[in-house]
Amino acid sequence: MSQLKDKVVLVTGAAGAIGSAVVEAVRAAGGTAIATDLSKPAGGLVLDVTSEESWQGAIAQAERDHGRLDGLVNGAGIAAVGSIEKTDFATWRRVLSINLDGTFLGCKYAFPLLRKKGGAIVNLSSVLGLIGGPNLTAYTASKGGVSLLTKSVALHGARYKPPVRCNAVCPAFVDGAMVDGIADGTRDPKAVKQKLAFDIPLGRLGQPAEVAGLCVYLLSDEAAFITGADFPIDGGLTAR
Ligand SMILES: NC(=O)c1ccc[n+]([C@@H]2O[C@H](COP(=O)([O-])OP(=O)(O)OC[C@H]3O[C@@H](n4cnc5c(N)ncnc54)[C@H](O)[C@@H]3O)[C@@H](O)[C@H]2O)c1
Repeated sequence: MSQLKDKVVLVTGAAGAIGSAVVEAVRAAGGTAIATDLSKPAGGLVLDVTSEESWQGAIAQAERDHGRLDGLVNGAGIAAVGSIEKTDFATWRRVLSINLDGTFLGCKYAFPLLRKKGGAIVNLSSVLGLIGGPNLTAYTASKGGVSLLTKSVALHGARYKPPVRCNAVCPAFVDGAMVDGIADGTRDPKAVKQKLAFDIPLGRLGQPAEVAGLCVYLLSDEAAFITGADFPIDGGLTAR
């Protein structure tokens, strides 16, 4: 219950399935969550992760309100269905801009405040940051970038005493708007959702609260010796 006592954690994409579960889990663990999204979540801040000005404003506000930042969860993201042949350049750029540029900007602008007292970053990557997906080309590329960006940030953060740790969480498909959106773009959404669950060895989709629990662990001091790592939370999908 007190894993995150006295810790202040900024969460992006906090109106989404995983982001809102992370906000709830941070608060349940005794921490203070700064919830951010494109439109203002209750008690939170507006933050467009693709905008440098937006990041500078949110971090300055966090410093004014709390005087510190102990954690950052980069949860904002979008998916776009399409193979290499079907993905147009505008879609590619939009996905890369939110998923990869947004995570880069978050790490960059939160870092100076995080390193004042040491801290932890959790980036939402995906199993598709670890293995390929033929029909989510831009998404797969963006998450591959997030997973390796995570290692670079982690190695830099390890130079500080106390350190800034940085890890990537890599879920398989999780119940929520993102998977609904992927399935709704197909001819038979119900069958597609069943197939996604069937392909997972544990036979079901993940739950946002399960991903949030892993994020809380990685933000906490219990994970003090963990940095630069990818954490699949995928019901065994990448074990094959
Ligand atoms: N849902 C899954 O199956 C799944 C699997 C693996 C990884 N992920 C990753 O986890 C993260 C969260 O996914 P989710 O399931 O909660 O998705 P979601 O669609 O429920 O929520 C995503 C949130 O990101 C916000 N967002 C979009 N563009 C933004 C921007 N420019 N600035 C700020 N916020 C923006 C949206 O408003 C939304 O609230 C994403 O990075 C996603 O890629 C999700």
